[in-house]
Amino acid sequence: MKTLTVIGGRELSGEVRIRGSKNAALPILFSSLLFSEPVEIENLPAITDVGAALALLSSLGVRVTETGRGRVLLDPSSARPDVCDPALSGALRGSLYLLGAASGRLGELSLPHPGGCNFGARPIDLHLDVLRAMGLTVTESGQGVSVKGRPKGALFHFPSVSVGATVNAILAAVLAEGRTVLTGAAREPHVLDLVAFLRSAGARIAVPSPGAVVIDGVPRLHGVTYRVCPDMIEAGTYLLFTMAAGGSVTLRSAAPEQLLPILPLFSGMGARIGVGVDSLSVARTGRLRPVRVETAPYPGFPTDLQPQLTALSCLADGESVISDPIFPTRFGYVSELKKAGATIEVANGRAVVSGGARLTGAKMTAPDLRAGAALTLAALTGEGESTIARYDRIERGSADYCDALRSLGASVRISDGGA
Ligand code: UD1
Repeated sequence: MKTLTVIGGRELSGEVRIRGSKNAALPILFSSLLFSEPVEIENLPAITDVGAALALLSSLGVRVTETGRGRVLLDPSSARPDVCDPALSGALRGSLYLLGAASGRLGELSLPHPGGCNFGARPIDLHLDVLRAMGLTVTESGQGVSVKGRPKGALFHFPSVSVGATVNAILAAVLAEGRTVLTGAAREPHVLDLVAFLRSAGARIAVPSPGAVVIDGVPRLHGVTYRVCPDMIEAGTYLLFTMAAGGSVTLRSAAPEQLLPILPLFSGMGARIGVGVDSLSVARTGRLRPVRVETAPYPGFPTDLQPQLTALSCLADGESVISDPIFPTRFGYVSELKKAGATIEVANGRAVVSGGARLTGAKMTAPDLRAGAALTLAALTGEGESTIARYDRIERGSADYCDALRSLGASVRISDGGA
């Protein structure tokens, strides 16, 4: 196990390049199963989740060739509907996308229960409901889930927004017989990036209004080279880091339009934000103001930035209230933040944060990826040395994290060992 050690109290300044989006990369990689000819994917982030997805695809017979930094050629012509290795799929929530992707071309797949960040119950009923509505036979057992059959077009309304179930439905519909109309669908930038990728390969997908997706099945997709979109959660995390530590940072290779809905919240807290064509700049102008925020599907405030925002609000002047109705139990990291001096009360999916804290160095453990970023934020501003054990959980989704922070002037290092 690796541990991140941070000496707090340094301002951040300079530039950081935003990597490809984890949440777009995983469905795009898994959708290679829909192809019968090779596809090349560029701008993949160097994160362990991408490595796990590639290993899983290889185990299903997809030939994976690295063609450059962050670039792979996937040849699915010999893919077979095997039973997934639980050691591979069990570590990756995104492995769920194999259900939709495999049913499209291979006609069947068995998947052990998927893993991923552990921040409470993560049901999959909507995934299974939409696949059943498309005519697939879905069987659930203690071991996992299996799907069988050829998908057919269907009308389906999601009673609540689910990124994962929307992705699975799109993947199953691309090669289905007939038209699929989805309403109540997710419209996160990573979902729209998947749609853009599939369209570039010949899929017929329209997004006529927010939350509606219409897919006309096509017989086959053709090989393409596609560049994964920038990671909006990584960009948002660096904005929040800079607001916490002070200083001024420019994010390059970003997609500012992804973050436009939430930038006013950050400027309202006291950040000066500059928006370029593919860059964003941030500087803190003075004391931070408290916030009242509730997470919501896009264009609402993302649950993946909730832990980082909660940590930041410890530094604001006054009381902040942050609710996460998407994942009400996603506050497991608060007990770790308290070790650094935070005052936060959590009840019923809502954190009440008493601001104005003077955070100090502490020995903490990252419960999951984004929570690890929240602890890093606290460590960057805390007085003295902090350690964050289980750095491997942060590496699941943040590329070159330590190097990027160091290049911005933070005192950070990784060592082996820890909890
Ligand atoms: C969610 C986030 C996504 C984030 C990811 C990892 C939303 C809408 N989704 O995606 O942005 O990147 O976590 O942190 O912000 N649900 C069901 N049944 C299902 C599927 C989901 O009830 O079959 C519920 C979930 O418990 C949750 C909500 O729907 O309350 C949204 O979940 P979903 O979008 O599916 O989760 P992820 O795809 O993991």
